[in-house]
Amino acid sequence: MNIYTKISGFGHFLPKKIYSNEDLKKIVDTSDEWIYSRTGIKQRHIAESNELTSNLAINAALSAFNNSKIDPKVIDCIIIATTTPDNTFPSTATKVQNFFQLKDIPSFDIQAVCSGFIYGLQIADSFIKSEKFKNILLIGAETLSKIVDWKDRRTCVLFGDGAGSMILSADKKKNGILSTKIYSDGEWIDSLYADGGPSLNQRVGKIRMKGQDIFKQAVTKLSQATENALKECNLNKEDINWFVPHQANQRIILSTAKKLGIGEKKTISTVENHANTSAASIPLAISSAVNSGKIKKNDILALCAIGGGLTWGSCILKI
Ligand code: ACO
Repeated sequence: MNIYTKISGFGHFLPKKIYSNEDLKKIVDTSDEWIYSRTGIKQRHIAESNELTSNLAINAALSAFNNSKIDPKVIDCIIIATTTPDNTFPSTATKVQNFFQLKDIPSFDIQAVCSGFIYGLQIADSFIKSEKFKNILLIGAETLSKIVDWKDRRTCVLFGDGAGSMILSADKKKNGILSTKIYSDGEWIDSLYADGGPSLNQRVGKIRMKGQDIFKQAVTKLSQATENALKECNLNKEDINWFVPHQANQRIILSTAKKLGIGEKKTISTVENHANTSAASIPLAISSAVNSGKIKKNDILALCAIGGGLTWGSCILKI
């Protein structure tokens, strides 16, 4: 008998502190007009210095457990997609595991930058379909505000902090994850990176980016990945109820939707309020849209993301 991966819970968490574009004017030489017209961003949530990625991840997990009424005790694997772990090691996932007192289960972080959650969906789906695990807690959690260079107006205006979570469970019905596609191309390592690392210079480093390189690659790679994922599960763009791309930039979101022939009305965008939260952006956007009643049971979603590396990918799933 075939086993499939259903989505049995969603959650998210955002730090309370908010920086508007007006607030950023006090930090760097910028304007609301420049930021909003080029990115669609109006504000971003910013973690306090004592608010760590693991705290955001735990709160996003609690939100999924509360919303779904699922007992944390059933979780048999924890995966966290993050570029901003609390420590170089141990993984942020083991901190979450310790909070929930889940003994003797595997927990690990994955690093695929903004595509981390899509990578996580493919890994979780493979684990469940191979019957290794039955209930996986997958979280995208980031505190990017801690690795932006607050003196660099080209990057600091783009990012925010937050976390989104999903509980993925084994099911006999062909629902949930219908297909996943993940890719990378190391040719682009110099276009988006942090200029530090344990082996490189024993520092954390700050985000460096060639914005126009990323913009050009994003629209092509996101639309191709989504087309490939649709093809793999024999669906067409007309079957999609909601397009949920990585929330980096409103112009990338709308250009990709247009290239795919998907209307703005079917496109979920939270970038105005959340900015770019990297691996957290997709689960955060989905959970927010479920809470607001936009995304409903049985809707088919097309997700896609691109991030440093470059890494990119897509996932088609039925809620
Ligand atoms: N406020 C005011 N002026 C600014 C700012 C700012 N925050 N940032 C840059 N500028 C200035 C530059 O200094 C430059 O001035 P100059 O001409 O006097 O030198 C001018 O604005 C134009 O700069 P560009 O970098 O050419 O601006 P561009 O139009 O390319 O827009 C942007 C920059 C918004 C980053 C764009 O390239 C983009 O959207 N790229 C996509 C990258 C992205 O979204 N990255 C997110 C992370 S990657 C990911 O998640 C996939």
